[in-house]
This record gives sequence, C-alpha cells and structure tokens, in this order.
Amino acid sequence: MCALPTLKIIILSVDVTFENCVDDQDHWEEQFSLHVLRLNRLNEESSTMLKGDIPNKNLDESTLECTFGDLHLQLDVPAGVWNPTPNGILLGETIEQLDFSGERILELGTGCGVHAVVLGLRGASELVLTEVDDSILGHAQRNLDKYGITCPVKFVVADWIQINEGQFDTLVANPPFALSNKAYRRYFIDTLILEAHKLLKPGGRLIFIHSTMADVPRTISLLEQCDMNVRILADKDFPFRDYYFEDEAYLKEMAAVPGSYSVRDGVRYERLVAFECRLPKP
Ligand SMILES: C[S@@+](CC[C@H](N)C(=O)[O-])C[C@H]1O[C@@H](n2cnc3c(N)ncnc32)[C@H](O)[C@@H]1O
Repeated sequence: MCALPTLKIIILSVDVTFENCVDDQDHWEEQFSLHVLRLNRLNEESSTMLKGDIPNKNLDESTLECTFGDLHLQLDVPAGVWNPTPNGILLGETIEQLDFSGERILELGTGCGVHAVVLGLRGASELVLTEVDDSILGHAQRNLDKYGITCPVKFVVADWIQINEGQFDTLVANPPFALSNKAYRRYFIDTLILEAHKLLKPGGRLIFIHSTMADVPRTISLLEQCDMNVRILADKDFPFRDYYFEDEAYLKEMAAVPGSYSVRDGVRYERLVAFECRLPKP
C-alpha cells in the first residue's frame, strides 16, 4: 500500500448537545466534536437542516418533486421502488453542484434514477446504473427518458460491487444501511470502500452518503486506510424517520455508535454526510 495522501485537515467542533443512547436511564451528553475532514467544502453552513417534503416511507408509490440548484425534477417512483429519503435528496443537492463533463460514471443501486438524471444533466458522457432487479431499472429508465438524458446509459442487474463493466471516473452510491437486511449493517458501505479501487480508474473518485448513525469516523478511517483522499461535500441534520422507531434492535444498535445522533427540544436528529474520496494517481 502506498503512503497516505497529504491532507489539509480541519477538525470541526460543533457546539451541540449529543446523545448516543436511546435508553433514558443510560444516556450521556457531551460537547460533540465531529471528526470530519473538510477540504474546500462546498456548503458553508455547518449544521443546516435539510428542508423539503420528503416521504418518510420508502417503498410507497409517489411523485418526487425536488429542486437542486436550478434543476426542478418531478420523478415517478412506483410502489416497490426506493423512494428517495433525506440521504438521496442531500446526495442529489450535492452532485448538482459538481461538474461531471466527459466522465464515465457508475451508480450502484440507482433506485428511481434521481442521481442518474442529475449526473446526465451535469455532463456525464456515459452512465452505468445497477439495481437488484430489472423492473426497478425500467422505472429509472423512464425517468431518464423524461429528462432527455442522451448520453449512453447501460442498465445492469448486479449484486452491489459485483460488476464487471470496466473502470470509471466516478462511482456514486447511496448505500443501504438502516434497512440493509444484513447482520453486519455497514456491509454495503464497507464493501463499497474496500472495492472502489477495482471499479475506479487511478485518480477516480467515489461519491457517497451516509448518516452519523453509520459511524462517520469509522468510514473516514477506512477510506484513509484504503489510500483515499477524503473531502466532506455536505452535511445536514434531519430528524429521525418514523421507521427507525419501529425497529428496536436498530435503535439499540445505534445507541452504541458514538455521536450517532443529537437531541434538541426532545427531537432526535441524525446528521447526513456526503463524502468525495479520491484514489491516488500512480
Ligand atoms: C438507499 S437506496 C438508494 C436508492 C437511490 N440511489 C436513492 O438514493 O434514492 C439503496 C438502493 O440499493 C438497492 N440495492 C439493495 N441491495 C442491493 C444490491 N445487493 N445490489 C445493488 N443494489 C442494491 C436498493 O434496491 C435501493 O434502490
């Protein structure tokens, strides 16, 4: 493994009361220092809230209306297709601000295609989009057609990183976590980080998002061990979704993650963090 990349590190101290335990008897509070690396961050506000009428249920039929910068999108999300959650919306907001001109891009788990539409409108020269089944990809294709995405788009049924489509300039993902259906909940995050070098060209970038509940410092540490240069592109707070409270095991598990959420006025908030991670050039 090569030497770690040189990073200009700014440790952000967020003056907010954090609690990482859901058991009232056993909760702790502390001034929380979020150990995130911030290089040339795009979003100057450190703990803004994500706004918008974002559906709380994931697999219901809906029409998603979202505005990212000057892009106003209205996407059909049929029943059974993942309804973009705050993670998906913040990732959309984030990539809308980037330039993907001429890039060959892979998105794992494209869902309704919300990010693929943005990537196409922001200059991608080729898109490869994966999902677990064909019907989901069919819906994504309709949304891409609606927005006149004209670059070549390949739809591939694949099990997460098990894809053999050559190497890409950029890899985008909003990995399953709370509903990952894996005993090891970080499975999709960790495999993404560990296998990114196989899917990316040298110097290529991985852009993904997850919540503080998935343990941000652990992600940054793994990215650094994989020789990637880490930049935080965005971070925003969002209140717990209803389905978190329906899963006691999840709440208990999250209680063990340091700094997984904050509590303000009796409301629990997770922070969503979007990462851009670059592989070294040889
Ligand atoms: C958190 S959702 C993100 C969907 C979409 N990118 C978004 O942000 O709205 C994760 C997506 O990964 C897909 N997925 C789940 N397991 C997968 C697997 N093993 N391989 C590929 N995709 C998977 C799900 O169907 C779902 O659409």
